[in-house]
Amino acid sequence: MIVETMINEVIAEKLDIDKLSSTSNTFHIADLGCSVGPNTYIAVQNVIEAVESKYKSIGLASETPEFQVFFNDHATNDFNTLFTSLPPEKSYFVACVPGSFYGRLFPQSSLHIVHVSYALHWLSKVPEEVLDINSPAWNRGKIYYTSASDEVFNAYAAQFANDVNNFLNARAEEVVSGGLVLLVMTAIPDGVHRSQSASGMIYDALGLCLMDMGLISESQVDALNLPVYTTSPKEMAGLIQGNGHFSIEKMKLTDPLMRIDEPVDMQRCTTHIRAAVEGVLVKHFGCSEKMDEIFGRFNQKAAKYSVMDASYKKGTLLFVALKRK
Ligand SMILES: C[S@@+](CC[C@H](N)C(=O)[O-])C[C@H]1O[C@@H](n2cnc3c(N)ncnc32)[C@H](O)[C@@H]1O
Repeated sequence: MIVETMINEVIAEKLDIDKLSSTSNTFHIADLGCSVGPNTYIAVQNVIEAVESKYKSIGLASETPEFQVFFNDHATNDFNTLFTSLPPEKSYFVACVPGSFYGRLFPQSSLHIVHVSYALHWLSKVPEEVLDINSPAWNRGKIYYTSASDEVFNAYAAQFANDVNNFLNARAEEVVSGGLVLLVMTAIPDGVHRSQSASGMIYDALGLCLMDMGLISESQVDALNLPVYTTSPKEMAGLIQGNGHFSIEKMKLTDPLMRIDEPVDMQRCTTHIRAAVEGVLVKHFGCSEKMDEIFGRFNQKAAKYSVMDASYKKGTLLFVALKRK
């Protein structure tokens, strides 16, 4: 709800209909990292309704365009499920665009609004140094960077910076001048140490479970590094400004998931983490039959971490609205 409200406000205040409508009779929206639904349908519907409201608010209701929506994810995404569960009452045309959003996906100046929710924290790859036994950034005995050395952290941060720059360069080609890019991302508040981030504590607990189980060798844990990075508002703003193609129209850190005074729902947390990383673990260890045990143990171990005392209290969701210059 918080995100929907922010998107509505940004479209109402920042979308320049005169400028955009001069480029095409069809309004093109892309949801990048869409997965299989239903969140992507909800997000797209919200964007469309906000654009329609904007047309109405400036007295152009009769000129509201048709909408073409592109759903993007990796080619391995289950697009069949996505398409078979599309809302029957949808008021837009649909196409799928497979491929990584770290490269070009669309023709020059062809998109009016790009939406990316909970996907930009996935790196394009694990930074090579953390896998190199001869590098000071070798990430021994850990699967993540938050409680690792500064060298490991710097390698992850550099990979994220490179990925964000590639993402922005590709979108700069594809988004029309005045078009919007709306990002919903996991984040850590400025000034909070990475070891205190909710995601850091969670992935540390998962790493300990993998080691404890004894079913998985130390060298296998050494070789596993999650390709995920949690940014901060300050870091993200610096990367966007350094890229230079977009102006920051809104940036807000908030918390969508839980209320501060509510206890942590560990079962929900475990389900969420399992959905995110099970594929990575199975691919790495080749042992899908161990997953119930791994996540059973994770559930118990993570319960000991007072995640709510850390960054959850200060915000875990970063909303960023960019406008193509
Ligand atoms: C946690 S899901 C988010 C799904 C949906 N956007 C939502 O908000 O619920 C992240 C999705 O991003 C996709 N993804 C990650 N990296 C990507 C990339 N480089 N290019 C395209 N999709 C990517 C994943 O395959 C996954 O489906």
